[in-house]
Amino acid sequence: MQFPPGFQWGTATASYQIEGAIREGGRGVSIWDTFAHQPRRVIDGSTGDVACDHYHRYKDDVALMAELGMQTYRFSVAWSRIFPMGRGGVNPEGLAFYERLIEELLAKGIQPALTLYHWDLPQALQDIGGWANRETATAFAEYAAYLFEKLGDRVTRWITLNEPLIFTMYGHRLGVMAPGQKDLGITARAVHHAMLGHGLAVRAFRANGRGGEIGITNANSSFEPADGSPECARAVEFARDFETRLFHDPVFGRGYPASVLKFYAERGAHFPIEPGDMETIAAPTDFLGVNLYSRQLVQPGGPTGFTSAAPTLPLLPMGYEAAPHSLGDFVRWVSKEYGNPVIYITENGVCDNTEPGPDGAIDDTTRMVLTRGFLEGLHGAIADGADVRAYYMWSLMDNFEWAFGFTKRFGIVHTDFETLKRTPKASARMYAAIARANSLDV
Ligand code: BGC
Repeated sequence: MQFPPGFQWGTATASYQIEGAIREGGRGVSIWDTFAHQPRRVIDGSTGDVACDHYHRYKDDVALMAELGMQTYRFSVAWSRIFPMGRGGVNPEGLAFYERLIEELLAKGIQPALTLYHWDLPQALQDIGGWANRETATAFAEYAAYLFEKLGDRVTRWITLNEPLIFTMYGHRLGVMAPGQKDLGITARAVHHAMLGHGLAVRAFRANGRGGEIGITNANSSFEPADGSPECARAVEFARDFETRLFHDPVFGRGYPASVLKFYAERGAHFPIEPGDMETIAAPTDFLGVNLYSRQLVQPGGPTGFTSAAPTLPLLPMGYEAAPHSLGDFVRWVSKEYGNPVIYITENGVCDNTEPGPDGAIDDTTRMVLTRGFLEGLHGAIADGADVRAYYMWSLMDNFEWAFGFTKRFGIVHTDFETLKRTPKASARMYAAIARANSLDV
């Protein structure tokens, strides 16, 4: 159960979920500030105003990572700390915060992996249409280029977008995440402009010429047929078109899946593709970021050709199945589908709401058992030839879980949201041991 030499272990977080200090250091308003402050958007009425207060406690958090033997750390930059209005006037204090964080990481021998966009769009850009406006793609590339220039001497691993599937669909079609819209036409525009923003950022990265590596992180499920029929097998392919290929195919130069374009067009919604866009989006990347939490059982039906079938495995508090085999399965599939790219598992983890026991210890057994299962599957996929080089556990600590507020815990470190005290859980000890040994035989 040994992982390949040089395989890296780390944890992941995102700015709005941990930083807090939303009105400090010259930070501008983001769409998540606006959304979380609207009534009934977040189930427990909480916001990211304070979150884990990481903005003030980043040193302790980095020390904790070092104690746990972490080798790399994936975090995101709040765009509105750098450009409070999305573009134009830069805020040096915002940049200084990330410089302090990066220096701290490097001093402890932890490699930074920087996500440029993890959903907290500057509100000023939303006010001109957000991702539905082509200008946002350009503004994203300008912001990215600025960070490549300022941080590219210390940060060598860059992720453009985190999960365009989730922020486009949940934010623009289903309305349950910021900016809370429900419009198919807007969704189509948001998808295309997000992907265009990714491509423009990759081009800016190459133009900067500093070296290092850049890629995109997509949200994934391992799709499985509800039964062995050819109809279910077809439904699985539709699910892959709408949720997986839509965001991978264009990056690998294959354009958007025809089935998806047709579905949107039949409903009067269009992808605003201009000449040259698909070439821009296909700008070669250095790795593929894979986020995965579960599988989805699918069956034929609905306007897209697939619907979810009733779950057959135990459910986690997030409502999806505890399906540890899904990570290895998906990695095998995606490696084959796209010609064996270099893969970083940029997120994988378990929602386990275990609270401290009477002695203060947090025995998050579900997280431990499932993490081991996910990693066994991953180990198998690597043995079969998948080129996976790093694994980032979501998440370092319990944090603001978007529309679920503080009701869902993903951390290997417990956060007491009253006192903000951090306490490593049993899973943190287990994960640290695995990381140290580079093996599951611990
Ligand atoms: C997101 C994270 C989120 C995690 C757990 C991913 O979709 O990138 O921000 O907290 O899943 O739900």
